[in-house]
Amino acid sequence: MISTMLVYEVRNESIGEASASIREFVAEIARAEPVSEHTAYQLEHSGQFAHFMSFPDRAAERRHLEAGYTKKFLGKMYPLCVIQPVYNELTITAETRTQVQTLQQKLSKGPTRNEFLKVAGLVATWTAFWQLGSCADEKEADSGGPPGPMANPDCLNAGTIVSIAANHGHAMTVSTADVAAGSPKSYNITGTSGHLHTVSLSSTHFASLAANQQVIVTSSSGNGHTHTVTVSCALSIS
Ligand SMILES: [Fe+2]
Repeated sequence: MISTMLVYEVRNESIGEASASIREFVAEIARAEPVSEHTAYQLEHSGQFAHFMSFPDRAAERRHLEAGYTKKFLGKMYPLCVIQPVYNELTITAETRTQVQTLQQKLSKGPTRNEFLKVAGLVATWTAFWQLGSCADEKEADSGGPPGPMANPDCLNAGTIVSIAANHGHAMTVSTADVAAGSPKSYNITGTSGHLHTVSLSSTHFASLAANQQVIVTSSSGNGHTHTVTVSCALSIS
């Protein structure tokens, strides 16, 4: 299971427009990704939004990131944002899954979403804005109209996003200059972890990034473990 979070903030005057786009986006996911979980939240009385997503595997995550509706959604949101969308992978520290499942059953009978959030131990101040399960039956979501701007992966111009699975303080940056150079390179990802791993990217990896394809590699072993490292292309609007 891969868990991720997308966070951003839109201008106050754009909250209504953003909310409509989120409903459309989540309805598209409900139709096209039956095995993914996707919940969008709005911080009460603000333009701050967070999407929590779970995918069964990397292939499902990649299909989501490369889907036309995802690019269309981000293309709409970027111009509305005061803080641009940031996509990060999450590691579960603790969970109350039994309580969540119990509350999910209760939700269909009427308890408030705030109750769900508090007991589930997510973020108590966040108000559930939209949940996949509650909108999956909406068959009439608008998918028409003009396409608007599109956000596309663009490693050479927008840069890269590095996600380190089971991270505990490691850090790695792949610059646009590295991608443009295309030469094999080894990265020290120690960060604040206190132990060393290296991550080696080959010329083939850089060629994939230059073609805006995601790259997944395994770090060297350090302190008795390795990390799966995913390098994705940040988005630019076209
Ligand atoms: Fe480590």
